[in-house]
Amino acid sequence: MCGIVGAVGHEQCSEVILDALKRLEYRGYDSSGIVTINDGAIALKRAVGKLANLDKALRASPLIGDVGIGHTRWATHGGVSTENAHPHVAADRVAIVHNGIIENHRTIRRRLEAVGHKFFSDTDSEVLAHLFVEALDAGLDPAAATRRVLAEIDGAYAFAMMSIDHPDMLIVARNASPLALGIGDAACYIGSDAIALSHLTRKVVYLEDHDYALVRADGVSVYQADGTPVNREAVMVAASPGLVDKGGYRHYMEKEIHEQPDAIAHSLAAMTDESGRLTAKMSDDELRSINGIVMVAAGTSHYATQIARYWIEALAGVPVACEVASEYHYRQPVTAPYDTAIAISQSGESLDTMMAMRHAAKSGLKTIGLVNVADSTIAREADTVLPTRAGPEIGVASTKAFTAQLTVLLCFAVALARAKGQIDIARAETIHAEIQGLPRLVGKALGLFDAIRPVAHQLSQAKSALYLGRGALYPLALEGALKLKELSYIHAEGFASGEMKHGPIALIEDGLPVVALLAADTVMTKASSNLREASARGGKIILLCEARATDEVDYASAVVTVPDVDPLLAPILLAIPAQILAYLTAVEKGTDVDQPRNLAKSVTVE
Ligand code: M6R
Repeated sequence: MCGIVGAVGHEQCSEVILDALKRLEYRGYDSSGIVTINDGAIALKRAVGKLANLDKALRASPLIGDVGIGHTRWATHGGVSTENAHPHVAADRVAIVHNGIIENHRTIRRRLEAVGHKFFSDTDSEVLAHLFVEALDAGLDPAAATRRVLAEIDGAYAFAMMSIDHPDMLIVARNASPLALGIGDAACYIGSDAIALSHLTRKVVYLEDHDYALVRADGVSVYQADGTPVNREAVMVAASPGLVDKGGYRHYMEKEIHEQPDAIAHSLAAMTDESGRLTAKMSDDELRSINGIVMVAAGTSHYATQIARYWIEALAGVPVACEVASEYHYRQPVTAPYDTAIAISQSGESLDTMMAMRHAAKSGLKTIGLVNVADSTIAREADTVLPTRAGPEIGVASTKAFTAQLTVLLCFAVALARAKGQIDIARAETIHAEIQGLPRLVGKALGLFDAIRPVAHQLSQAKSALYLGRGALYPLALEGALKLKELSYIHAEGFASGEMKHGPIALIEDGLPVVALLAADTVMTKASSNLREASARGGKIILLCEARATDEVDYASAVVTVPDVDPLLAPILLAIPAQILAYLTAVEKGTDVDQPRNLAKSVTVE
């Protein structure tokens, strides 16, 4: 999603802004730009494509000035072009950058055009620049101008504005899109997240929804929408590696796949208390009071919830509903059977998931945020936080965050089951020991790259593929299919293998790749019969399974095995070959693995 940065009071303003934009690259973008104020005039550079293009333009003619803003744009309104790239400038006086969607932009634009404002882009964002020009023309001071602009716009936004009328400050505001203010020694900064500012400062102020702020070199003044000054405390964010490098790997995704033993081990450590017992970060009394859980999430995080449902229901006997976040609150769901909502998000900023969590909170549910980014909005708003410790995930396709989420959710299920007396200490300790062994087993599964390469080569020729799983491996089939389509652009669908005969089996024709996930669990024999039916109709079975399940299938065209594991943990371990298969297929096809087309890492619009 779009990334916003800015600096005021820094001599090499455009350089630090470019560095900060590079730190936001992982969010996904298709154009970028920077604007500064130099000698009382606006100086602007924008470029389509990668930041390297903007970098080149800046080298050819550098932007001078100690106040500036920058942006990476992920197109929503208006195609990918230099004119639609941010910053947008109005009347040569005001420049803005914006993340989100101004929903009533058409009405505002029509009104402004009727009184002579000239627009240069097709974006919704440009209205912000013109609204500020209008407010400043009316003689309003920066704070009053901001209140007037905020009163007119609807939608989700984080924006920054600067003007030659007030060259010593940036004005920023947020509603439902993330924005952090960085406090430096003699300069202040703004960024879509703290990672963007990690090379400049660790002292950060997070704006809350409907806040606006005046950011000057010597500090920030924050106000609520009605103009009341408000103190949002500065926090010291954890030292971040910031611009994470690829560590010698070809892609961030490849590196992140290899980081999974650590991501799992660190997440397990975060879910283990001082006495060495699995914890859910709540007292036993609080856990006992949980009688129904609704889990809200998007994409890969949603598939993690679907796997966790099997664990929580089987171990703790607590009913679980898994909801696609973007559908949840608009459906006006009846929340009564549930008393607890778990919002799961790697970024902690997915707008759909945030809105779903807010809806649950408004309906009286206790909220738990399971996030990988500790300072994210979901973490700050949830009643309780369950952390994954996967470290920054840069590749757009989620890998280590997914297996870390599953680890935390399994720990949560065990702690809940114990508090509720559904399992005894011995069973809890056995599962705990199995989870402790997981990083080692995942490490072994990482040795599968060479075995999977020829399979990926074959798969890369396919137009379409099916992924099948049964039991807790069914959601993993959905996740495997998502990985393949988002990375390699091959059409892929995941199905519950038992569901095939109810319709999808009609899709099977000679040679269609069928990626089958199989573990030695209670449904193995039935799952294997379903696979045989697919094979009998010409499906080319690519079997990803536990070593001891191989004998069940003697008709596969390729078999990739992971070490044997407790069936509870099979979805975590089998995720590894599914990720490697999607990764290597994309590499074969030569697609943009870390930033697939049309995708963003952190989806902060609805
Ligand atoms: O940051 P989140 O976990 O909330 O993100 C949710 C989805 O946008 C994300 O999982 C997406 O589906 C990934 N591209 C999957 O690889």
